[in-house]
Amino acid sequence: MQDRFNTIAGWTLFAGIVALGLSSVSAKYFQADKHHRPHEMGFEIEGVEAEGGGEAGPSLPELLAQADLAKGEKLFGKCTSCHTINAGGPNGIGPNLHGVVGEAIGKGVGGFAFSSALSGHGGNWTFADLDAWLASPKAFAPGTKMSFAGLGKPQDRADLIAYLNTQGSNLPLPAVEAKAEEPAADEAAAEGEAAAGDEAAAPAEAAAPAEGAEAEAPAAE
Ligand code: HEC
Repeated sequence: MQDRFNTIAGWTLFAGIVALGLSSVSAKYFQADKHHRPHEMGFEIEGVEAEGGGEAGPSLPELLAQADLAKGEKLFGKCTSCHTINAGGPNGIGPNLHGVVGEAIGKGVGGFAFSSALSGHGGNWTFADLDAWLASPKAFAPGTKMSFAGLGKPQDRADLIAYLNTQGSNLPLPAVEAKAEEPAADEAAAEGEAAAGDEAAAPAEAAAPAEGAEAEAPAAE
């Protein structure tokens, strides 16, 4: 009996030593003893804007000018569970949207029962209003009964709004204004460095070359 106990204890001890050895070998082999940073940190979530990204991007008129109507029509698929868009189409969970661009906000046509959040809003649907509304219905009209989270991508909203506009409204798209970058280009031109002016078409980049041109100008004289 005593012999049996010693044998069992011996093998148990031996097994423990082997397990300890294996675990340290495998830790080396799989490098579990080292810290690694992932190759890519985090992951992007679709529809969420990077901070400040909204300001830096192209303006709504610019996005509308380059809008893709076919894509807009496809995006309207997100709306068809609640809305029709054809002329005289029935109201569903939401009102018929034929000709909604430019129409009075929250009035609709076929007697849809709007929430007071929307019917009391006042004004007509401008392109900018629709952009804000589709970005976040709740932010635009707190208490609205349109339970739609919103479209995070500015170009998606522009595509969709441009499509809505073709369905009974056909209003002229807002003009693309040349804004902030113009003075910079003028200054550069005034200093005799007109080169930067040519780049004014690309709004985001225009500011940098213009400044560069200014900095170089005194040195050249
Ligand atoms: C879950 C249902 C639902 C979905 C999905 C939905 N809506 Fe709505 N929508 C509503 C409701 C309900 C209202 C009325 C809101 C109120 O009265 O507060 C509304 C109102 C509107 C209005 C205002 C109409 C007017 O005459 O003032 C517009 C514009 C609109 N929706 C566009 C859209 C677009 C574009 C989409 C797709 C991206 C969409 N909606 C998705 C339910 C929905």
